[in-house]
Amino acid sequence: MGKYVVAGGKRLDGEANIHGAKNAVLPILAAAVLTGAQSVIRNCPDISDTRCSIKILRHLGCSVDYDGSTLVVNSAGVNKTTLPCEAVSKMRSSIIFAGALLGRFGEVDSAFPGGCLLGDRPIDLHLQGFRKMGVAFEDSPDRITGKANKLQGTRIDLTFPSVGATQNIMLAGVLAEGTTIITGAAKEPEIVDLQGFLRSAGANVSGAGTSTIVIDGVKSLRPAQYTIMPDRIVAGTYLAAGAITHGYIRLNNINRLDIYPATRVLADMGVDLWSEGSALVLKADKNLSPVPLLKTKPHPGFPTDLQAQFTALLATVKGRSVVEENLFEARHAHIAELAKMGADIKVEGDSRFIINGVSRLHGAEVAAKDLRGGAALILAGLSAEGITTVGNACYVQRGYVDIVADIQSLGGDIKFISSE
Ligand code: EPZ
Repeated sequence: MGKYVVAGGKRLDGEANIHGAKNAVLPILAAAVLTGAQSVIRNCPDISDTRCSIKILRHLGCSVDYDGSTLVVNSAGVNKTTLPCEAVSKMRSSIIFAGALLGRFGEVDSAFPGGCLLGDRPIDLHLQGFRKMGVAFEDSPDRITGKANKLQGTRIDLTFPSVGATQNIMLAGVLAEGTTIITGAAKEPEIVDLQGFLRSAGANVSGAGTSTIVIDGVKSLRPAQYTIMPDRIVAGTYLAAGAITHGYIRLNNINRLDIYPATRVLADMGVDLWSEGSALVLKADKNLSPVPLLKTKPHPGFPTDLQAQFTALLATVKGRSVVEENLFEARHAHIAELAKMGADIKVEGDSRFIINGVSRLHGAEVAAKDLRGGAALILAGLSAEGITTVGNACYVQRGYVDIVADIQSLGGDIKFISSE
């Protein structure tokens, strides 16, 4: 597993480049199965979730070449519609391959994706959408086995703007007969990126980024090439690192609009932010103000994937802040770990955190329980007095290509110790 060792107390002063977005590349790799041709995908982040997706692609019969940045996949040879159990249990977002397999072959067989520490993570909205498009599922408690002669385009009204369900239904609609209209769709930037990739493959998709997405089914797709968007959550994590250490940092190749829901909170806290070309500069040399109420919401609200990182930041800002986690019923495992470092946070129910900011956290031995919670503990370690070790580094490696190199280039004192 390995651990991070962080020496706190240094103001960050440096710059970092933001790599491609994990949550854009996973649905785009699934979409590559639809084309039956070659796709060239650039700026593909070398994270464990990408490696897991490559295993799934090869299991299905695709050829894949990956140099750590550009991924070339050819799905002409796909000869299976069963998802590998190990991948589905390790990476629940592998369910995104269902839409592509149903869309191209009219069938899919997979274990139910596991829940995780964030909550039980149901997929009822995905299955409801597929059923409306003509997919019949066997009645099984632990497997998803679906078949359809030919998927039919139809209108699907999502009762919740689920990112995964929106993406899965988009994939199922690309080669379907007729038009699929998704209302109540999620508006995350990663969905706009998926639309960009699909269009590069000849699909007829519009409306991504709004709550209504229209997919006109086409007969076939063509070879595609696409460059993945910068990861707005990685960018937000490093902005929080700059803020928690009262530093002065520069993040290159960032899409400022994607990250606006987080930068507006930082600006309200008294952080200075400005653009220099495609870079975003942060300066946090003033005393920061607490946030009376920070609620996570679907985009363009404050992203749940930055909740843990901002909870850690607010734990070091004098005064009372309240954070409300509205997307996942159990996204709070980082709070007990922050408490080991001296944070004063009360959890009300499952989703309301009352934070009484302290002037200084102290180093401690803590452990990541999930991806973003692990990143939050590293941020806390950067600001704490003394040394913090963050165990279970494998969680963080799912979503950050090399957080050690990035934090070091931002001026932080961190190293990784392997347990192998
Ligand atoms: C995506 O997960 C992201 N993962 C998550 O990022 C992110 O937190 C989430 O969207 C919200 O933005 C990827 O893109 C790979 P949802 P997803 O479907 O698609 C409920 C990270 O740290 N729901 O929008 O699974 C669900 O239980 C990860 O990078 C249903 O009830 O998120 C949850 O409470 C963590 N029924 C809420 O909706 C369904 O059928 C949001 O889920 C589907 C979802």
